[in-house]
Amino acid sequence: MSADKTAKLSLNGKSYDLPMMSPVMGPDVVDIRKLYDEADVFTYDPGFTSTASCKSAITYIDGDKGELLYRGYPIEQLAAESTHLEVCYLLLYGELPTKDQMDDFKTRITRHTMVHEQMHYFFRGFRRDSHPMATMVGVVGAMSAFYHDSLDITDPWQREVAAMRMIAKLPTIAAMAYKYSVGQPFVYPKNSLSYAGNFLHMCFAVPTEDYVVNPVLEKAMDRIMMLHADHEQNASTSTVRLAGSSGANPFACIAAGIACLWGPAHGGANQACLEMLREIGTVDRIPEYIAKAKDKNSGFRLMGFGHRVYKNFDPRATVMKESADEVLDLLGIHKNPTLQVAKELERIALSDEYFISKKLYPNVDFYSGIILDAMGFSTSMFTPIFAISRTVGWISQWKEMIGENGKIGRPRQLYVGPKKRDYVDLRHR
Ligand code: SDX
Repeated sequence: MSADKTAKLSLNGKSYDLPMMSPVMGPDVVDIRKLYDEADVFTYDPGFTSTASCKSAITYIDGDKGELLYRGYPIEQLAAESTHLEVCYLLLYGELPTKDQMDDFKTRITRHTMVHEQMHYFFRGFRRDSHPMATMVGVVGAMSAFYHDSLDITDPWQREVAAMRMIAKLPTIAAMAYKYSVGQPFVYPKNSLSYAGNFLHMCFAVPTEDYVVNPVLEKAMDRIMMLHADHEQNASTSTVRLAGSSGANPFACIAAGIACLWGPAHGGANQACLEMLREIGTVDRIPEYIAKAKDKNSGFRLMGFGHRVYKNFDPRATVMKESADEVLDLLGIHKNPTLQVAKELERIALSDEYFISKKLYPNVDFYSGIILDAMGFSTSMFTPIFAISRTVGWISQWKEMIGENGKIGRPRQLYVGPKKRDYVDLRHR
C-alpha cells in the first residue's frame, strides 16, 4: 500500500495537502485523519457511502464486476471446491490450510460445539414464540458470563479460544433457539458429523427416531454458510468492529453484530424476502409489487434486491440460484410456486428501467430463503443461519482490528440542534 500521492484541498483561503493511499485492489483513499486538527472541519458521510473505516486484508468486493474474494480466492471457486470450515480457516488465518492444519482446526472446533449445561436454563426464560434472533442476541451476549478464561482481549491465546468457541457454538445455540421455539427437546451436537450436518441434526433430529443427514441438503447448507461467511465492512461487521474498539469482550461484540444483522435492510432481508414472495403468491401479481417498489411514497422495497456495493449481480445470488434448483429437484419440489414467482420477478425487474437505472440486482438474500424453506426451516430461522455463517467473518475482522491496537471508534457530527440557551423555570414556560 503506497502513500506517494496527495489530494489538494483549498478551504477558507488556505490549501491543504491530504496524503493518499493506494490499496492492492480498489479505489485510492484520501487520508483525512489530520483534517480536523489542521483545517477545523469534519467530513460528512452519514451512510459511509464514500468512507473507508479501516484497512483490511480479509475480503474484497468489486461492486461493478460483481466480484467477491475471500483472502483473494473467488467465492465461486470456494463454493464449488471448498467447505465452510476450510473457509473459516482461510478467513481467520489468511491462507488455505494443509491437511494437518485442517484436521487440527476441525478437531478444535468440534471439541467446542457443546455449550455450558447451565445455559440450557437461559432458554426457559424466553417465551416459546420469541424470535430466535432475540434468543441468540441474549444467549451469545451471556456467553461472557460463562467463559471467563477467554475474555481478555490482550491475550492472543484467549482471543483464539473465544474465536473457536463462537464458531463452534453458534450452530448449537441457533439450533437450541429453534428447538425451543417448536417445543422440542434440545439435541446435543454429534462429533462424528460435519459442521453443516451437525447443525441439520441438532435442528431436525428427535429422540424418538434416528436422523440421517441428507448429503445433498448437507452440501447445500454448507454452501449457504460459505456464501455468507464474510463481506467486507457491512453494517453488522462495522458494528462488531466499533464494539471491539472500546475493548468490549468478544462475546459482547458478536452479540452486537447479531443485533445489527437482524434488520430487514441487512441480514433480516432473507426472511422478509420469502415473506414478500409468499405475499405476491402468483406471477400475475408481480406487476402490482413492481409498481409499489417504484413508488417512493409506498415505503415498499423489493426484499432481496439492491445492494450498497454491488451494482452488478451479487455473485452469491448466482450460486444460490443454482443451489435452489438442485435442492428443490432433490426434494422433488419441481413446481415450487415461490421459486416460480422469484424467477419471474427477477426477469421482470431486470428488464425494468427503474431497476436498470438504479443498478438493482438480486442479492444474496433473494434465493437463500427459498432453499431454507424447502429444507424445512421456519422463516424466523433464516437470519439465525446467516448469523452462524457470518460469525467467522465478524471474528476475523475483530481479530484484525484488535491486532492493530487501533483507537476507539468515535465519529463526530453535523450539529443542527438549538444554540446555547438558559434554563427556563417551569413557572415561566
Ligand atoms: C445484505 O453490506 C453488505 O455487504 C450486506 C450484505 C452482507 O453480506 O453483509 O450483502 C447482506 O444486507 C444484503 C442486502 C439485503 N437487503 C435487502 O435486500 C433489502 C432491500 N434492499 C434495500 O433496502 C437496499 O438496496 C439496500 C439497503 C440493500 C442498499 O441500500 P443503499 O445502498 O443505501 O441504497 P439506497 O437505499 O440509497 O437506494 C438507492 C436507490 C433509492 O432510490 P432513490 O432514492 O435514489 O430514488 O435505489 C432504490 C432506493 O429507493 N432502491 C430500491 C431498492 N433498493 C434500493 N427500490 C426498490 N427496491 C429495492 N430493494
